[in-house]
Amino acid sequence: MLGKFLTFAIVLGLSISFMNTANSTEAKDGKTIFEESKCTTCHSIDSQGVETRKKTPKTVDLSKLEGDHDAAFWMGYLKKDQTLNDKKHPIAFKGDDAELEIMINWLVSISAEPAAE
Ligand code: HEC
Repeated sequence: MLGKFLTFAIVLGLSISFMNTANSTEAKDGKTIFEESKCTTCHSIDSQGVETRKKTPKTVDLSKLEGDHDAAFWMGYLKKDQTLNDKKHPIAFKGDDAELEIMINWLVSISAEPAAE
């Protein structure tokens, strides 16, 4: 009983602090969120001049997203709720949904741009 109450209190406390950080976050653009979310550890976006920080030998360029999935799919993928080719994304996005949505919409929009030759 006490355990349940403590869990509830902790979850409530976390939600409140989470809401506070969400409120104090100024609207950032997708590229800023992408760079601040450490996505560049494993990804570059060549078409946007976003360079990887090459911490891993294998980097994946996100100039063009695979398939024709919509933003909702990619949001799920970045939360590890969705799989791509039967695999979950290696990490889950740490920020809030609002930021995830802005970033994903940005990735989807640049992916739809014709490749610069
Ligand atoms: C630890 C390394 C790592 C980090 C950090 C990482 N990713 Fe990935 N990501 C991968 C790998 C590896 C794949 C390819 C998975 C596959 O093909 O099965 C991938 C695939 C993707 C894809 C699908 C690309 C495609 O078209 O196939 C998207 C979108 C993506 N990542 C977005 C992000 C975003 C946004 C972030 C930052 C929140 C991020 N990733 C952080 C390793 C990482």
